[in-house]
Amino acid sequence: MESATFQKKYDQLKTMFENHMTTLDFGEDTKLTESMSYSLYAKGKRLRPLLLLMTLESYDIRPEEGLNAATAVEMVHTYSLIHDDLPAMDDDSLRRGMPTNHMKYGEATAILAGDALLTQAFFELTKGTLAPSIKIRLVQLLADCSGALGMCAGQQYDILVENQKITLEALVQIHQLKTGKLFEYCTVAAGIIATATTLEVKWLRQYAKSLGLAFQIRDDLLDIIGDPEILGKNIGADEYHHKSTYPALLGIDKTYFYLNHHLQEAINALNELEMLNPNFNKRLLMDFVKKLELEYIKNDK
Ligand code: IPE
Ligand code: IPE
Ligand code: MG
Ligand code: MG
Ligand code: MG
Repeated sequence: MESATFQKKYDQLKTMFENHMTTLDFGEDTKLTESMSYSLYAKGKRLRPLLLLMTLESYDIRPEEGLNAATAVEMVHTYSLIHDDLPAMDDDSLRRGMPTNHMKYGEATAILAGDALLTQAFFELTKGTLAPSIKIRLVQLLADCSGALGMCAGQQYDILVENQKITLEALVQIHQLKTGKLFEYCTVAAGIIATATTLEVKWLRQYAKSLGLAFQIRDDLLDIIGDPEILGKNIGADEYHHKSTYPALLGIDKTYFYLNHHLQEAINALNELEMLNPNFNKRLLMDFVKKLELEYIKNDK
């Protein structure tokens, strides 16, 4: 179980992050900016920004240094959710406890709200006091992790294999792309800000890869056994759309096994990091893994 100190830290950083987000300026009040705010300021877990800020803390870097980079990933993530819910994709009606963006504003505005959040995310990376050379690396990283080499590639693959039985290897690849890549952005971005060595970045990436895969496996499970009230989204959608998921391919028991397996892989990566750099404090990221453990599967806040 994650520690009480971790939860306190999580809540404290979440408040700091959400306060920062309220300072965003999308310009004039229009239907477009209203629909962007509707999804961005809705009740999300803010897992990705917190992963970034907590990785910075592991290097004893002030979280303020990462607020722009953390906001950028939350904007890309929110755009990916708006588009993921569209009728042409997963056709969902509930997200973050509210009607999905297209249900509220119509499909055209929802598409544009996603486009604008994605674009604005890169503007966000240019803000703040980090060195320009670091900002450029963050821009490149976010582009890699979000686009045709990252999240979009995974989403395309996910849609292409609906109604198909695929191999476990292919499913791992989909999950690592559509979900893992944004997790990778978070720890690697923090590593870049903290001027971590190339070898450390390799293990930061490995940690996020395993954690992101585990998170999507958990999401697949929650689509079957989760509580819509707590999740803020409908369940049963994966089966309805004949999605390729862990439970569909392997059954529930093996899905639990792989979830634990990949969480353990994430812990192993942290041990490597600790050995490489004695100043790296793995405690928070260890608790981050525990937060995704099974006991919490029905209590996903
Ligand atoms: C949902 O992500 C989409 C997946 C990658 C599974 P989250 O479960 O982090 O959604 P929010 O941000 O809390 O709404
Ligand atoms: C979504 O995966 C991954 C994204 C890149 C948005 P899902 O389609 O399983 O996410 P949910 O279950 O709708 O949140
Ligand atoms: Mg989807
Ligand atoms: Mg979906
Ligand atoms: Mg899902």
